[in-house]
Amino acid sequence: MSAAREHFGSRIGFILAAAGSAVGIGNLVSFPVAATKSGGGAFLLVYALFVFLICLPVMMAELALGRRTDKDPVGAYRHLSGGSKLWRIPGWLALFTPFMIAVFYMVVTVWVLGYMVEIFKGNLTGLTTEAYFGEFINSKSVFVYLVVLMLIINGVLSMGVRDGIERAAKTLMPLLFVMLVCLVLFVLTQENALLGVKYYLIPDFAKLNAEVVSKAMAQAFFSLSLGMGIMITYGSYMKKRDSIPGSAKAVALTDTLVAFTAGLLILPSIFHFNPQIDPATLSDSSAGMIFLFLPKIFLSLQDTIGYFGASAIAAAFFFLVFVAALTSLVSIIEVPVATLRDERGMSRKQAIIVLAVVQFVLAAFCAMSFGMADWLTQFVKIAGSDKSFFDLVEILFYDTILPLNGLLVCIFVIYKWKWANFDQELTEGDSGFAGSLSQKYVNFALGTFIPVILLLIFINTVALKFF
Ligand code: PFF
Repeated sequence: MSAAREHFGSRIGFILAAAGSAVGIGNLVSFPVAATKSGGGAFLLVYALFVFLICLPVMMAELALGRRTDKDPVGAYRHLSGGSKLWRIPGWLALFTPFMIAVFYMVVTVWVLGYMVEIFKGNLTGLTTEAYFGEFINSKSVFVYLVVLMLIINGVLSMGVRDGIERAAKTLMPLLFVMLVCLVLFVLTQENALLGVKYYLIPDFAKLNAEVVSKAMAQAFFSLSLGMGIMITYGSYMKKRDSIPGSAKAVALTDTLVAFTAGLLILPSIFHFNPQIDPATLSDSSAGMIFLFLPKIFLSLQDTIGYFGASAIAAAFFFLVFVAALTSLVSIIEVPVATLRDERGMSRKQAIIVLAVVQFVLAAFCAMSFGMADWLTQFVKIAGSDKSFFDLVEILFYDTILPLNGLLVCIFVIYKWKWANFDQELTEGDSGFAGSLSQKYVNFALGTFIPVILLLIFINTVALKFF
């Protein structure tokens, strides 16, 4: 099996594909919203510490698991645990988590696609009316866009690792960087933009509390696509001669830079729209920001650059978010594709078709959770309140199982696979890493406080969400 395994063609190809996974709606919208509401520069500082001191070692661990075994997450755990029944559980979790996260993430991406098309049709004004969002997400066109989205994602996946995933990342990621920078430069020239920059960067340490710190951690973990089996799978497509620590650092840095830059787009736009605004009053939700607030901001640009100009900026922004979400979805759906191929011996095409059918049904259920079908809108009662199918998937997989998966990766790598083996994999392709301070830190952190932090987040989430 391993002889026939596909690999990324080049180190830069891998870095762009992994960065394509990491850079998503989380970076472009959730991160700026969280930073705005949680102390600006103070949040940025805590976030950066989490990315580099906690998430980066976990990313190295996931990549090493994949590369050592040349397998999907289920196979990687099975192989390195010597077939232990107990250690099969994280393998299966690393299969179901990406599958279900993909389902709810696809629905939001479908909305982004729908808004983008409306803007291209010249209907930016229509998007700013109060009722539009509610009507759109409950319209039949959501299913049409879902089919279009799935055709694009599965089209890329069907071309394979090098010709599909890597080629798409190499084309789309540079485009994403250039568009983001152009949008930021444009927004910074607008009136009152600097008020937003100030609000974003000046630290307000008084806003830091346990909740904010745990939010920063969860955001960093999600943003780097950890706990979803993605980095294990992408690790299995890495070449032995490439450095895992070096590549992981490049991915984490790119992801963080994009998130930071997105803040320089969102905050100045908000202050240009309303210089008197108190960002603390903004909604916490990314969906509220993307679909309710930002269209109004873009429309307000028509006073300075006309309706066509405002529409062009809005279209560029939605296109940016769409591309970021697309490359993330490609990476996450590759995980079950790899599992079906490695574990069930299916061909890439067979795996894609089987998954697409199930995923379409579940994504449609998520999409219908906002009023189209009562039984999905009030799917379960959790902690005394009704939750929709969409909410359930988000709470269960994103909020709860993600940190659990991270915790299991740390324990597995250090205590089951053993760190001498892990170290050997990290130094393969990076002899300079051997014996370095970074190596000592990574081993120590993964074996001690990182699992403790992830365990605390897991317990805290269970207590908050389920009781
Ligand atoms: N890193 C992605 C983000 O920040 O949006 C997380 C992600 C979500 C990856 C959904 C893949 C995915 F399908």
